[in-house]
Amino acid sequence: MLELIKKAEETHTLSKNEIVELLKDDQYNDELFKAADRVRKKYVGDEVHLRGLIEFSNICKQNCLYCGLRRDNKNIKRYRLKPEQIINFAKNARNLGYRTVVLQSGEDDFFNVERMTKIIKSIKQLDIAITLSIGEKTREEYKAYKEAGADRYLLRIETTDKELYEKLDPNMSHENRKRCLKDLKELGYEVGTGCLIGLPGQTIESIADDILFFKEIDADMIGVGPFIPNPDTPLKNEKGGTFELSLKVMAITRLLMPDINIPATTAMETLNVNGRLIALRSGANVVMPNVTEGEYRKLYALYPGKICINDTPAHCFSCITGKINSIGRPIAKDYGYRKKVMSKK
Ligand code: SAM
Ligand code: SF4
Ligand code: FES
Repeated sequence: MLELIKKAEETHTLSKNEIVELLKDDQYNDELFKAADRVRKKYVGDEVHLRGLIEFSNICKQNCLYCGLRRDNKNIKRYRLKPEQIINFAKNARNLGYRTVVLQSGEDDFFNVERMTKIIKSIKQLDIAITLSIGEKTREEYKAYKEAGADRYLLRIETTDKELYEKLDPNMSHENRKRCLKDLKELGYEVGTGCLIGLPGQTIESIADDILFFKEIDADMIGVGPFIPNPDTPLKNEKGGTFELSLKVMAITRLLMPDINIPATTAMETLNVNGRLIALRSGANVVMPNVTEGEYRKLYALYPGKICINDTPAHCFSCITGKINSIGRPIAKDYGYRKKVMSKK
């Protein structure tokens, strides 16, 4: 096993069987995390990039079985921020010191191309990078958002197991999800994707495929998070993913993709009070604190136990910067684009 970790650290390649072996054996987890931390330090440095997350609508036309925002969930109060509110939250984030905002929502058709491009253009004037995470769109829409000033896009593949994906995401097609990621890459976005760990029916072999898929499409950012069952969804009685396995998938991803951006995900902190710091010491170099204001944080309820639901953007900013500094890591002051040491292109 130590040989495999060494090989991954030195060559940044592993076969599917080797990834499966690493994922199945927990004896050398500490060595794996340390190796991922070394690779992180060598390729992307000690700086941690903060991205301010604005959750601007919890209205969704999709019905993903795992997600609290799914269309059929009637136990959730729906909201949609006004464009001026979104721009204001971005302004406040900029004033706190963020150099990137992430605009995330359910698939809400109210935010059509006209409305969305206006918002993007206004926020862009604040001299801040923009990441969108608003789901599956047409190539033309993605193109319009890019031209309006969006820099990055987050769209998790969730799982590369097509059958499982289409079971858990009714009426969505795995082909279309992959088409979206390809279009985004071709249009010049920095592309973030990732997967959920612990979905019912997911195998270790398919998780190994997920990691190889990230590498194959040369993703610029990978977010790995545990699936946390939501009591208001059909998957309420499922077990969900573990912190340890999510961390291992993240660490192996770092070994195989040394120069990408990897967030310490919020869902990891939900399962472990020090989850984000542990992730930052096991390969991660990005944190996405919430900059949504007021009651909306609570209403953006993907899963139970979400952190920071009663906190303010200013509080979260000082909390997380303090924690990051406490492990000897500085906060980056630039926009945080991928450093592209290893890219194929
Ligand atoms: N609607 C967009 C989409 O699906 O890409 C963006 C918002 S969606 C809420 C963001 C991410 O939340 C999804 O990619 C999914 O991985 C994650 N998510 C949803 N339900 C979850 C759950 N129960 N546990 C952990 N993560 C979850
Ligand atoms: Fe909607 Fe995204 Fe949740 Fe699926 S994961 S129900 S697309 S918000
Ligand atoms: Fe929100 Fe710590 S990051 S309270």
